[in-house]
Amino acid sequence: MKHLLLLFSVLLLSLQPAAFAATHETTATPDSVSLFAYATRGDDGRSGLRFAWSMDGKHWFEIGRNYGYLRCDYSRWGSQKKMLDPNLKQLPGGEWLCVWKLNDHDGYGQARSKDLIYWEAQQYPRTTSDFEGTRVKAKIAGHEETGTVSQVPWSVVDGLTQTYERNQYRNSLYGERPVQDKERFAGLKSVKATVTAQPEETKEISDLLMGIFFEDINYSADGGLYAELIQNRDFEYEPSDREGDKNWNSTHSWKLEGENATFTISTSDPIHPNNPHYAVLKTNQPGAALTNTGFDGIALKAGEKYDFSLFARIPEGSKSGKLLVRLVDADGTVQGETTVTVSSRSWKTYKAVLTAKASADTHLELHPQSAGEIELDMISLFPQNTFKGRKNGLRPDLAQTLADMHPRFVRFPGGCVAHGDGLKNIYQWKNTIGPLEARKPARNLWGYHQSMGLGYYEYFQFCEDIGAEPLPVLAAGVPCQNSACHGDLRGGQQGGIPMSEMGAYIQDILDLIEWANGDAKKTKWGKIRAESGHPKPFNLKYIGIGNEDLITDVFEERFTMIYLAIKEKYPEIIVVGTVGPFNEGTDYVEGWKLADKLGVPMVDEHYYQSPGWFLHNQDFYDKYDRSKKTKVYLGEYATHIPGRRANMETALTEALYLAALERNGDVVHMSSYAPLLAKDGRTQWNPDLIYFNNREVRPTTGYYVQKLYGQNAGDHYIPSQINLDNQDGRVKLRVGSSIVRDSKTGDVIVKLVNLLPVSIETDVRLPGMDGIQSSATRTVLAGAPETTPLPVTDTIEAGTSFKQELPAYSFTVIRLKTQKGKNKQ
Ligand code: AHR
Repeated sequence: MKHLLLLFSVLLLSLQPAAFAATHETTATPDSVSLFAYATRGDDGRSGLRFAWSMDGKHWFEIGRNYGYLRCDYSRWGSQKKMLDPNLKQLPGGEWLCVWKLNDHDGYGQARSKDLIYWEAQQYPRTTSDFEGTRVKAKIAGHEETGTVSQVPWSVVDGLTQTYERNQYRNSLYGERPVQDKERFAGLKSVKATVTAQPEETKEISDLLMGIFFEDINYSADGGLYAELIQNRDFEYEPSDREGDKNWNSTHSWKLEGENATFTISTSDPIHPNNPHYAVLKTNQPGAALTNTGFDGIALKAGEKYDFSLFARIPEGSKSGKLLVRLVDADGTVQGETTVTVSSRSWKTYKAVLTAKASADTHLELHPQSAGEIELDMISLFPQNTFKGRKNGLRPDLAQTLADMHPRFVRFPGGCVAHGDGLKNIYQWKNTIGPLEARKPARNLWGYHQSMGLGYYEYFQFCEDIGAEPLPVLAAGVPCQNSACHGDLRGGQQGGIPMSEMGAYIQDILDLIEWANGDAKKTKWGKIRAESGHPKPFNLKYIGIGNEDLITDVFEERFTMIYLAIKEKYPEIIVVGTVGPFNEGTDYVEGWKLADKLGVPMVDEHYYQSPGWFLHNQDFYDKYDRSKKTKVYLGEYATHIPGRRANMETALTEALYLAALERNGDVVHMSSYAPLLAKDGRTQWNPDLIYFNNREVRPTTGYYVQKLYGQNAGDHYIPSQINLDNQDGRVKLRVGSSIVRDSKTGDVIVKLVNLLPVSIETDVRLPGMDGIQSSATRTVLAGAPETTPLPVTDTIEAGTSFKQELPAYSFTVIRLKTQKGKNKQ
């Protein structure tokens, strides 16, 4: 503080005439100063509410360099979150109220604060600003800004300054990266460590810690995990799915090749109202073909069989006719061929099987063999080889890659996809079950289309197939916190479901539980599930309500209604609430307050952070108040580095943090990296855990870390003490260990992380742990931070005391078998 005042005096002296300097040259604390509150027009206030102070109302000193103390969260990410002409005033009780213009059409936003540092939930849109403070101009750091002035005690400026400085300090820690290790650890020699287990301190931890989060982002579903090979098979692509793309409509991916024919889209008498568009193919003279490009092509595998099917009918005036179905590669070679004869006057399914002659990238061609009209819909090509042979199933290589992680649960269908862009885009589970031709497709807010071919039935079936708990997430009666606000989307995330419709919305959620768990004969929705092919209940235990929403009054009211309704009807279901998109800030604080108030059993935390953040926050859950009832699901996290790549640096940071999660497995019951899948050339978000194209699946280094944790999970945590021969705090921070026991097998698993540029000679001691066998399985993932190594597994001599060298930048997992029966619980 003193140095600030001195600085202030120096600055003032350099700017001011002698008379001013003479009266103000002091290091004493001023009683009060003027506080200027503004948002810079240069970026439409996207950097938020900023402050400057002055003693004389003429010379202003910026508080925090370009630092925003309150950012508007209204509307879409990026350019739409504006803060225009903020007015700040102090209310009679001392509280601060800030009101600002949102844009040219949506009115005003407002927020309140006691100290100008922590701001309560924002509210909008308001139609009037209620007050217009006197706006004045001031020159801040060379720029003229307009804002409001208040008189405040010096302590307010001090508090704001300290907040900024603390943030700067934190940012310098969070900016730490291995690229600086050469300098940071210059001269560091190999380190010696002793890791000693303390079995007497063993505690139970969650056996659901490792799971996966599947969201239809980056073409994860259609064109990805969902094995359908025809793109836009139902002609339901809508221009609104993908703003600004002129080719995005019912004919997307389809083309008429050849002459003497026409291809049009009709809606006059569809198969089902949910599926209103279909194709009309009129052939004057055979020769032309309707073609489909698939999802970046149709990749065939030699010798494999493919189920072709379509809905078709012949309108009055035309005769039945043959359709030649071909899969043709870029050279024009036919790699698969069949025919169907369409004769029905009403919609009817026709089926045929094709066998691929070669592994080739192809497209589909439909050649009418006679003149006349034919109407077509739901044109599908499905490999017979799906995961576990399921009809309407999943791509086996991708699904197996997920299954190999041994995830204990699957969260679906999002993310932002779950709560949608505006009310009309909220994901409705009922639209995603039942016959494919009656499912209701929807816009995917990541800028494409969801056919819903991969729907709730398929998600639940997949969970069952891989032995994972299903964790469906439903909107909390509000759409995505980043919903757009224009046209009929006006209201954005504050446009919660009207109260008159909340009853029906809540009923839909209760129906989901009945659909998943209800008796196949005695309950309406259980019967519907059984008719779809699954008479046995799916045994749903968890349900997510909300996804990193803004915790506002609109949210709280709706979440509470849903929560209480589930609790009343299905007290056994564990509701997972939400606490915003970050590990701190208004939504985090208010979300937790609400969870505590209601006694929500679990909340979903999200944070995408730098390596330095993860490094310096390994104690994030050590500090957790263990008297709380609410457990944590870390539903979305990932390490982000510049360029958003996934490599050893990100993977090792995650390995270190996961050791901390295991240590806190009594509080953190579930976790899932995000996002999971990304198709080459179709990504909206990086990094992702697994990249793929039509032929290949390429897990990232981070995938192997997740897989190693998933395959080597335990349900008991055995604390261990690490002693290093180097007491440098920076060294200690980069070494981690976690020991767990799996009571089903009795195996003891030791995980060791070395994020240092030197190797660590480690003595592992497991005193008092009976029956550990001498031979163990060891898996090591090692490589420089910018590399993408693969894990290597071998067998070692271990026992209750053994030596293990941890290579520089490495993650080591040692799985020790115990004599049968020992250590089992
Ligand atoms: O994981 C990608 C997105 O990140 C999710 O949809 C959303 O919940 C979060 O903002």
